[in-house]
Amino acid sequence: MGQKKLIKFAAIKEYENVLEYPQGMPGKWASFFEELKKGTVNIEIDELAISLPTQNNSTDATVPAIKPLVLELACGRGEYAVGLGRMFDNQNFVGLDIKGNRIWKGASIANRDGLKHVAFVRTQIDQVTQYFAKDEVSEIWITFPDPQLRLSKAKKRLTHPKFLRLYQQFLKPGGIVHLKTDSPNLYLFTKTVIELYGLTLLTATYDVYGTEFMQSDKWDDRCTIKTYYEGLNIASSNRIHYLQFKLDKELPIELEEKLKDIIAAFEVTETHDSLARNGKQAME
Ligand SMILES: C[S@@+](CC[C@H](N)C(=O)[O-])C[C@H]1O[C@@H](n2cnc3c(N)ncnc32)[C@H](O)[C@@H]1O
Repeated sequence: MGQKKLIKFAAIKEYENVLEYPQGMPGKWASFFEELKKGTVNIEIDELAISLPTQNNSTDATVPAIKPLVLELACGRGEYAVGLGRMFDNQNFVGLDIKGNRIWKGASIANRDGLKHVAFVRTQIDQVTQYFAKDEVSEIWITFPDPQLRLSKAKKRLTHPKFLRLYQQFLKPGGIVHLKTDSPNLYLFTKTVIELYGLTLLTATYDVYGTEFMQSDKWDDRCTIKTYYEGLNIASSNRIHYLQFKLDKELPIELEEKLKDIIAAFEVTETHDSLARNGKQAME
């Protein structure tokens, strides 16, 4: 492993705003951010109080309302966690990724700029339910996840019902999922999932920066935040696709066979690289 990576790994171990595979966090995020704001060193998870939005029914104006918690999945360098943190100081933000050297970037910026309502978790997304309590998360941003283009890998896509069922365990009722991707395949796949399971689709655009969408009433200023991968244009689609939807229906496992059949009928099974090599157009 390179020296630079080792330095970054060592640095995040010392950062109060990075938790690596934390144990016992569900229900404690509001208390965690209070301690972070106070500048507490060595925050002890065991000593944090459990406080959930659903428990905070107090009519006492002196009891502060619990801030909404927004999660960025596959955050990489955490451009959304940090960028949203700059836009909204009345919400808390957590970026989650497995790569410590990428998280280091966002966590360092949050530290440098005093964004005490932005933190990071280093872990596998498959384990995400271990870190949040029921109804603790208000919104989820999935930013440029690996599109997992091969059909045989469809279950690894972060908008596959298998993952959506995990998110349902901690996303509050009415909570919103945002997907930003440059992959036409992942965009169409996710739309198919939304339609098949009857989820509420709030926004769908093939071209988030197109004039038509930007001038529509669906435009959301949060979409202006650009991530590192967004700039790479890996799918060569020259378009950024955006979906906003709710996880407001049950996601029966029985429908997965049907999903498989539907996507097999329209999906690109080659990678975009091999399509390009063969002189073919990526699917729109
Ligand atoms: C294509 S990058 C996008 C990063 C960032 N959102 C951006 O747009 O620049 C995908 C990210 O997902 C992370 N990732 C992929 N699979 C993961 C998993 N199972 N658990 C946690 N992170 C994962 C990778 O480490 C990587 O940082």
